[in-house]
Amino acid sequence: MFEDFTLKRFAGRLLGTALCLATSSLAAAGIEQKESPQDLVNALHGTFGAHHARAVHTKGVMVVGTFVPAKDARSITKASVFEMGKLPVVARFSLFAGVPDIPDTANGAAPTGLAIKIKAKDGTEYDFATDQHNGFVVATSDEFANFLRLVGESGPGVAHPTPLETFLNTHPVSKHFVETLTSPASYATATFFGINSFKWTNAAGKSAFVRYRFVPRAGERYLRPEELKTMGPNYLQDEIVARIAKAPVEFDWYAQIAEDGDKIEDPSIAWPESRKLVKLGTFTFDRLPADKDVADKQTLFLPGTSHPGIDPADPMLTFRNHTYPISFGERQ
Ligand code: HEM
Repeated sequence: MFEDFTLKRFAGRLLGTALCLATSSLAAAGIEQKESPQDLVNALHGTFGAHHARAVHTKGVMVVGTFVPAKDARSITKASVFEMGKLPVVARFSLFAGVPDIPDTANGAAPTGLAIKIKAKDGTEYDFATDQHNGFVVATSDEFANFLRLVGESGPGVAHPTPLETFLNTHPVSKHFVETLTSPASYATATFFGINSFKWTNAAGKSAFVRYRFVPRAGERYLRPEELKTMGPNYLQDEIVARIAKAPVEFDWYAQIAEDGDKIEDPSIAWPESRKLVKLGTFTFDRLPADKDVADKQTLFLPGTSHPGIDPADPMLTFRNHTYPISFGERQ
C-alpha cells in the first residue's frame, strides 16, 4: 500500500524548478515575502546543518493506519474526503530539530510533530503537518528565517546576552513559546495543533475559519523536567513502535472555529480555548510501513494544499507548501 503514497513522480521536476515556481506563485497569491522558500531551507541548514534529510523535523517514525470521518464534519465543509468512509493514511511522528541523531531528551526535540496524509478514494491526498505547541514561535515566514539565524548565532561559547536572548527579551510571544515547550511521555499522549488557519466552506456556501487539532485517545501526558532526565535518547521513537505493536494508537481530529477578532493570519497567537470544537473524525495508527526507510524518504506532506471546501487562509501555509518540496527534493 505504501507505494500509493510515494511522490517519486514529483522529485525530478521539483529539484530543478521549485524555487522559480515558488517565487512566482507566491507573488501571484499576493504574498509579500522578503525571504524565499529556498532562503528558509538555507536558514534551516544554517542552524541545524545539511544532512541530506528533512531540513527540520528530521528524526522521526512513520506509521500506517486508517481515517474514519465524523458526521459533523459535513456541517462545516463540503470536502469529499468526509463522504468516503474509512480511508488509508500514512503518518509520521517527529522531533522538531533538523538534526538526524538528536537525543529525544535534548533541547530542540520539542515541539514534536505529527504529519498525516489521508489517501482519498479519488486519488486526492489530504495532508497535515502539526506540532504539539498551540501557536508558532513567530508570526511570519520572514520572522522565522530571522529567528533561525539568531538560534544559529547563539550556540555554546557565545557571550550573554546571546543574539537569541536579546531577541526573546523584546519579543514576548516568542519568549513565551520557548519557555512553555513541553516533552510528551509518548507521541501518543500529546495533542497536536495545526496552528495555521484554513477557510472551510460547506455545501450551502457558508464559510468559517478553522484551525486543526489532533487529540490523543490515550489522554495527554507530558514529562516533568526531572522525569525527562531519566529517559533514554530514543525514548519517543522506541515507545511508539512498542505501543503500536501492542494496540492501535488513536487520535480524534477537531476543527476549532474562529470568532470575530481571532487572528487568522498570525499563527503565533492561539485562539481562546472557549472556541467551539467540531469533531471531524478519528485516526487509527496500527502498524509500521513495510519498508520504513523507503517510506520516510519518499513521503512528502503538503499541509497548505487547497481542496473544494478547504482553502489555506494564512500565507504561511502557502509558503510551507512551496518550501517542503525543496527540502524533499534535496533529500532524494
Ligand atoms: C514558515 C514556516 C515553516 C517553514 C519554513 C517550515 C519548513 C519545513 C521544512 C523545510 C520541512 C521538511 C519537509 C520535508 O523535507 O519533507 C518541514 C517539516 C515539518 N514541519 Fe514545517 N515549516 C514551517 C512551519 C511549520 C509549522 C507552523 C508547523 C506546525 C504546525 C510545522 C510542522 C512541520 C512538521 C510536523 C514537519 C515534518 C513533516 C514530516 O514528517 O515529513 N512546520 N517544515
